[in-house]
Amino acid sequence: MKTQEIKLKNYINAKYREEIIFTKGATESINLIASSYGEKFIKEGDEILTTELEHHSNYVPWHFLRQKKGAKIKFAPVNKRGEVEIDEIKKLISSKTKMIAVTHISNVTGAIMPIKKIVDLAKEKNIPVLVDGTQGAPHLKIDIQELDCDFYAISCHKMYGPNGLGILYAKKKWLEELPPYQGGGGMISEVLKEKISFANSPTKFEAGTMQTAEVVAFSEAIKFIEDLGIDNIQNHENEILEYGIEKLKKNNSVNIIGEPKERGSVLTFTIKGIHPHDIATILDEDGVAIRAGHHCCQILHDKMGIPATARASIGVYNSKEDIDILSKAIDNCKKIFNI
Ligand SMILES: Cc1ncc(COP(=O)(O)O)c(C=O)c1O
Repeated sequence: MKTQEIKLKNYINAKYREEIIFTKGATESINLIASSYGEKFIKEGDEILTTELEHHSNYVPWHFLRQKKGAKIKFAPVNKRGEVEIDEIKKLISSKTKMIAVTHISNVTGAIMPIKKIVDLAKEKNIPVLVDGTQGAPHLKIDIQELDCDFYAISCHKMYGPNGLGILYAKKKWLEELPPYQGGGGMISEVLKEKISFANSPTKFEAGTMQTAEVVAFSEAIKFIEDLGIDNIQNHENEILEYGIEKLKKNNSVNIIGEPKERGSVLTFTIKGIHPHDIATILDEDGVAIRAGHHCCQILHDKMGIPATARASIGVYNSKEDIDILSKAIDNCKKIFNI
């Protein structure tokens, strides 16, 4: 897998190949760190600082640590625009903060978090930063050395790649420090009855048979992104997003969720009087695939006082025509509900 590791290392501009660890997905990447880092470095009363924007993947693993070790979780609040301001994070950092775990882009409001500023703040106090890059990596150019975070979780199926594969970037200084996450074949150096020694990273964190086909496929997906150019992808998505926002704003009774100053390409909305699951079902009949529900962000939906939202996710394959079709399907949906 060396060729693929090097491709991914280069793609995110990591300094060392061994900083690229293959996992099952972003969820497993975050669980790996919560478990491994938590086991060694977290004790009772220590604090994990996260935000109200997080996907359950970046909250539940820390909750386990809260249960197991008596750690506390602090949530930086989301504002009315659907963003978390850097000052809110600053306010919550204390001498007990042992990890800052934040998303790069919200999968509901689309807010792009100021990761570099958060890392700079954290570095002043020697606090590691984990970034859930599931929505960040497909849409933004990732230069991991410039971001300078300690951990970055990537989901390959969000980057035009296969299901069941993820990447965990872990800064070299942690690779020796962290204990293995799972035990089994592949991750060992020597196994004796009384003593086991472990392989070096990344193998130490990759117990069991590797998803070789998925890794090769993902490497091709990276080539696809590189051929198009991530900047071109981002510009295209932003253009479609802006068009979509303008179009839906004109549509009576559609409420767009979030108005962050910097936004990734998700277009989340509600329609007064129609449940998002009904919207999704009716749009599906018109050939429009959206998602409905809390999008694994129940804390955020609780804060907004709504149980569910509908979300159109814009990718490189979408066009303005797709937005027109979405808008028409919404009109049709409103007609069915007499709205
Ligand atoms: C922001 C965010 N974090 C984490 C995940 C989970 O990623 P995975 O399916 O790779 O575990 C998702 C998936 O939707 C997501 O949008």
